[in-house]
Amino acid sequence: MAAGKPWLNFRRKNRTLLTALIVCFLFFYTRQRSDFTTDIPSQHQSTLYCSQNTIAKEVLVVLRTGATEVLEKLPVHFDTTLRCIPDYAIYSDYEEEIEGSHIHDVFDELSQDFKDSVPDFELYHRLKTQGRDGLSIGGTKHDGSGASGSLSNPGWKLDKFKFMPMIDKALRHRPQAKWFVFVELDTYLMWSNLLEYLSKFDAEKPYYIGKQMYIGEVLFAHGGSGFVLSAPAMRRVSEHWRAHMVEYNQYTIEQWAGDMILGKVLKDVQVPLLWAFPHFQGDPVSTLDHNITKIDRQPWCYPAITYHHMPEDEIRSLWEFEQEWQRTHPRDVPLRHANVFKEYIQPYLGKERAEWDSYSVNPEFSKHTLKDGEAHTSFEACRSACESNAMCLQFSYSTSTCLVSSEVRLGRRATLQCLEYSAAASKCDKTEEKATDTGEGSLGAVRSGWMVDRLAKYVRAMDQTCNDHNIGWIL
Ligand SMILES: *[C@@H]1O[C@H](CO)[C@@H](O)[C@H](O)[C@H]1NC(C)=O
Repeated sequence: MAAGKPWLNFRRKNRTLLTALIVCFLFFYTRQRSDFTTDIPSQHQSTLYCSQNTIAKEVLVVLRTGATEVLEKLPVHFDTTLRCIPDYAIYSDYEEEIEGSHIHDVFDELSQDFKDSVPDFELYHRLKTQGRDGLSIGGTKHDGSGASGSLSNPGWKLDKFKFMPMIDKALRHRPQAKWFVFVELDTYLMWSNLLEYLSKFDAEKPYYIGKQMYIGEVLFAHGGSGFVLSAPAMRRVSEHWRAHMVEYNQYTIEQWAGDMILGKVLKDVQVPLLWAFPHFQGDPVSTLDHNITKIDRQPWCYPAITYHHMPEDEIRSLWEFEQEWQRTHPRDVPLRHANVFKEYIQPYLGKERAEWDSYSVNPEFSKHTLKDGEAHTSFEACRSACESNAMCLQFSYSTSTCLVSSEVRLGRRATLQCLEYSAAASKCDKTEEKATDTGEGSLGAVRSGWMVDRLAKYVRAMDQTCNDHNIGWIL
């Protein structure tokens, strides 16, 4: 018995030692591994997968925002996209700290005379003197900013003035950076694809890359879709702006969109725009028609870099999808729009989806397909109407309204059906009216459905459009 004890103790000690060794090993192993991956507290995944592209540290990502929207829209980025981005700066109309990040006042170096003389700076002055209380005017809080804001929104009025000081400050913030990437808080950036793309260019040359857009004669990169400037382009813009500040300030007062004003300066310094649609594009993942053609290009075969008008829940779910892609494609295989459609969107597209609006807003097609009015009587009748037209791929139904479409969209969770959609603003312009009388909530139970067999054919047909000319990067 007495002999048994030391033996037991020895075993126990040994086991403790072994356990300690394993713990140590695991500890150092994970520490080593954290060059590649980092443990994160999340319910869904425990490991972070970020691009290993070496140019990551040569890129500064600049987020442009305003006090009216930043509290609502910034935090999701700390949880998602920004976790893989080593270097970023946030510029706003109000200086503050959010979750430990400094938000810079983009206007702090702008001439006081100019700020005092332009009425659009009223909100800025109020924020300066009253802090966040300055946001409430007569009890009304003005939320929202960015291009989707209305012209009467004081946050949006300030937005156009931010672009030039933002360029100038970003360049001084990271004078050694080779690339500067500009996004808004409702822009989704596929970081890994972006790095892969930028690594194809010679960063010593001036580049201006983004989703092309015109206002009048001026060609520019749309701000919400995100755009990129190489360091030489940044320096040209900054020097030119500093030398002609009075003229450009006046020009900014006369125009309404800051991204367009920047486009004008780039034109003046002779840096042409590289039209980067569909890498950079203006729709959210939920309403993008993957069979749209712009400048003779369709998204399908190309790698995706940006989405715009992304609400928080879509940012989160796309991020999780992108993480899964990174996990299963460790060598930075580009994520193409076709992959997003087949692996992220298509699994949602079933025969019926309740409280879901597929954005089947295709007025001409609906008018042509729903001639007899029968389709509006029920969900099933609506489906039959879609089935009867071989081109029909999806439909939505709510409260005696059937809409059908030959375009495919994921859509989003909704209680009210979208009746009119603005492709330009990528948002719903008109929804069905809310039920106000009964309080029953019987109205607005939007349901959607897809022609699942036809979608399989759609995917095959789209895949066949990919060839040597449109599967690569637009250089
Ligand atoms: C894509 O759109 C074009 C033009 O609207 C249409 O002719 C074509 O059939 C569509 N492709 C698929 C696979 O639906």
